[in-house]
Formats: sequence, structure tokens, C-alpha cells
Amino acid sequence: MASKIFPLLPIAPVVQQRAVASAARLGVDRIDLYQVHQANPVVGDTTTMSGMRTLQDVGLVGEVGVSNYGLRRWRFAEAALGRRVLSNQVRYSMIDRGPEEDLIPYAERAGRLVIAYSPLAQGFLSGRYDATNPPSGAVRRGNPYFLPENLARGTELIATLREVADAHDATPSQIALAYLLRHPNVVAIPGASGVEQMERNAAAAEIDLADDEYAALVAAARAFRPVTGLAAVPRMVRARLRAR
Ligand SMILES: NC(=O)c1ccc[n+]([C@@H]2O[C@H](COP(=O)([O-])OP(=O)(O)OC[C@H]3O[C@@H](n4cnc5c(N)ncnc54)[C@H](OP(=O)(O)O)[C@@H]3O)[C@@H](O)[C@H]2O)c1
Repeated sequence: MASKIFPLLPIAPVVQQRAVASAARLGVDRIDLYQVHQANPVVGDTTTMSGMRTLQDVGLVGEVGVSNYGLRRWRFAEAALGRRVLSNQVRYSMIDRGPEEDLIPYAERAGRLVIAYSPLAQGFLSGRYDATNPPSGAVRRGNPYFLPENLARGTELIATLREVADAHDATPSQIALAYLLRHPNVVAIPGASGVEQMERNAAAAEIDLADDEYAALVAAARAFRPVTGLAAVPRMVRARLRAR
């Protein structure tokens, strides 16, 4: 059982009250992993982690985790807790590979976990969508990866995913998850629109990618150059106007 605290004023007594309330709502007497949803820019981790330490000491919380933390702040949180902060939940997928630079090497060195959220890049890596068939829904309309131009730029990457998937009698989504799980200290938490997707996603943990397949996926992921940041803004506005 894992839960998160949204860190609105995450001072020690608030952290403790919120954990007690969460456990009661969940009907459990122990939260195995209690995570800070994101770093608070004003309230430091010293007080937050003091609250977490008390929760561990009384047995209400098993392990402490964080989310959306950079490496420095993760390690600072550990120093403040005086114990390991077991996991850091961050955006990580084949097209958001930032955690490979520092968080995953740290997790491997120190025996910690990176929990990958949006591991399918909100469905971009499923291969269901292309420039002529973008997804609907406000969340994905606000994601530059789903601009028709970026969907077109992703054609080669999706083709590589399909090729590897065919060799395993699997789907592109499963291969995109297997890519992440090749890192031993990574756990993925894909979202699913239905039970079938959920079952397929769980089955991806059984897929072993060969070295050459992994290398092909790495190369295809690196070759994908989406339009993001400021350059994407006018395109997003135009895409919205066209969708009206
Ligand atoms: N810590 C944080 O700050 C944070 C932030 C964001 C998300 N999260 C968590 O991360 C989890 C997942 O992230 P996410 O939902 O944003 O993105 P995701 O897991 O990358 O993508 C989920 C979407 O991919 C498609 N999909 C999933 N499995 C599939 C399959 N087997 N075959 C084909 N398509 C499949 C589905 O969309 P369609 O079927 O509609 O295409 C599904 O809604 C959520 O539980 C969320 O709570 C955490």
C-alpha cells in the first residue's frame, strides 16, 4: 500500500495528521510507502522528514518516498530523515529519459528505487496515435508530444517498438515498459484505460529484451526529436484553434 501527501505546508505535525487521516480513509493500520508528492519550494525537508521519522517510529509508515525530486534534494531529504528515502517517483519513459542521467545511477549505487510515472508518455508510446489520429481529451491536448508534428516525428520510434514487439508477440506499450524495467532499480506505474491494458502492462514485466533489441530502442529513442518548450507553444495554439 503506497500513498502520497500533497505538500501544502508539509511541516512535521501536518505530515503526521495527514498520514493518520490517509490510513483511516484507506482502512489500513500501516502505509508501506508514504511519499511526498513534490518538493515544497518554501518549507524545507528538515521538518517534513522529522514528521516522517516519527511516523516510521510509531509503525504507521514503513518506507518514506519522495516524488518529483532532483537528486540533490532527494539526498538532502535522506540526510534530514537520517535514514533511506527509498524511492523517488518521477516522469520517466523512453522519450523522457532525464532520470537516466543521475537518479537511476544513484538508485543503483545506493539500493534505492526510481518509480516511473507516465511510463508510456501518456499513451504516445502505445502506437495507437499518429498525426492523422491524435488523442482527444484536455490532458493530452495540453501535452506537446501529441502535436501532429511530434506524432509524425515519432513514426520511426513507434516502428522500432512494433518491430521488437512482433519478435516477442507483444505490443509496443509492453516493449516501452520492458525498456524501463531493464533497469533493475526502476518500477513503472502505467495508467490504464481498462482491465485489458492493465493486464498487458503487468505482463510486460516478463519480457526480456535482448541486448541488440535494447540498443535499437535506445537509438530510436535518441533519434526522436520532438518540438517542445517555447517552440511548441504557437503550434499548440494553432492545434487548439483547428480542433474547435
Ligand atoms: N507523481 C506525479 O507527479 C505523477 C504525475 C503524473 C502521473 N502520475 C501517475 O502515473 C501513473 C501513470 O501515468 P499516466 O497515466 O500519466 O501515463 P502513462 O502510464 O504513460 O499512460 C497511460 C495511458 O496509456 C494508454 N495505455 C496504457 N496501457 C496501455 C496498453 N497496454 N496498450 C495501449 N495503450 C495503453 C492509455 O491511454 P489510451 O488507451 O486512452 O490511449 C492510458 O491512459 C498514474 O497512476 C498517475 O497517478 C504521477
